[in-house]
Amino acid sequence: MEFRHLGRSGLMVSEISYGNWITHGSQVEEEAATACVRAALDTGITTFDTADVYAGTRAEEVLGRALRGERREGLEIFTKVFWPTGPGRNDRGLSRKHIMESINGSLRRLQTDYVDLYQAHRYDYSTPLEETMEAFADIVHSGKAHYIGVSEWKASQIREAHQLARELRIPLVSSQPQYSMLWRVIEAEVIPTCEELGLGQIVWSPMAQGVLSGKYLPGQPPPAGSRATDEKSGAGFIAKWLTDDVLTQVQRLTPLAEQAGLTMAQLAIAWVLQNPNVSSAIVGASRPEQVHDNVKAAGVKLDADLLKAIDEIVEPITERDPAKTESPAQRP
Ligand SMILES: NC(=O)c1ccc[n+]([C@@H]2O[C@H](COP(=O)([O-])OP(=O)(O)OC[C@H]3O[C@@H](n4cnc5c(N)ncnc54)[C@H](OP(=O)(O)O)[C@@H]3O)[C@@H](O)[C@H]2O)c1
Repeated sequence: MEFRHLGRSGLMVSEISYGNWITHGSQVEEEAATACVRAALDTGITTFDTADVYAGTRAEEVLGRALRGERREGLEIFTKVFWPTGPGRNDRGLSRKHIMESINGSLRRLQTDYVDLYQAHRYDYSTPLEETMEAFADIVHSGKAHYIGVSEWKASQIREAHQLARELRIPLVSSQPQYSMLWRVIEAEVIPTCEELGLGQIVWSPMAQGVLSGKYLPGQPPPAGSRATDEKSGAGFIAKWLTDDVLTQVQRLTPLAEQAGLTMAQLAIAWVLQNPNVSSAIVGASRPEQVHDNVKAAGVKLDADLLKAIDEIVEPITERDPAKTESPAQRP
């Protein structure tokens, strides 16, 4: 495993982190979830990403149990707040009330005294940013989180939060956006702003939820046991990528991966890590073999000719519009 600084902070994270959205507490049984976490630890992953909302809060519980007994100082545990965790109108968003309640719930479920990074899972247009940042400041100053991050915030929102964080003397160190060969909306605005302000990207769905592994074939049913067959939740999220146009272009990447001596999954993960503003690629897995495959993307250098050839293939199916970095206009 290779390690990078999280933005300009002193915190080191593994280039590849393990995330448990859709899988833990939902798509996969606890035994498989634990086996994936074990595989992650065995292959040198130290950074784990979850959220209060995943699997209706069960994902944090599963991760907490899977990591029990590990040396806490050897791990970086990240979680998030924003999406609903209960039926009440205050069980969501970034109000002081919800942030304070949510961090306590997350710490209890994760069986830890602190998280390394606490992230605003979206921007909340119904709460003054000052209220949110002051609540984060109290959480940092009470030792419940060491660093603060945001997810899917626009460049202008990151800039405003960064100014407040400086005034409140708390470290706002990261942005967690979707980023892959197919989804490059952060390149125009979010990345330059974060480079200037010292935030690193911890990118999600670097494999476009498994699509860039090449296992989904145009005109064919999805492979058994894949996310696209998970009717509980995964199938709905991955559906937008499962068009013949996308799947046909993705298959054209196969010879490039072969020439580079990589699997398609490794190529996709290595691709996001070529961007120096990316601190870590958060990779999901439903079985331990995938973790073993994926971690080999750490430290891989892709040459300029290969990057150009990839660009040419994916250009017709790549989204680049910075306006696609979005948060809900109303609280969910
Ligand atoms: N901040 C946010 O709003 C946000 C949103 C989404 C995700 N995230 C974070 O990012 C993490 C990763 O997201 P993701 O799971 O969508 O990422 P991903 O790495 O793009 O997709 C992971 C999925 O692809 C399949 N896969 C993994 N390795 C494979 C391999 N080697 N060969 C074939 N298939 C493979 C697995 O699904 P199957 O085996 O089931 O097909 C796995 O669950 C999440 O767990 C979460 O921590 C954050």
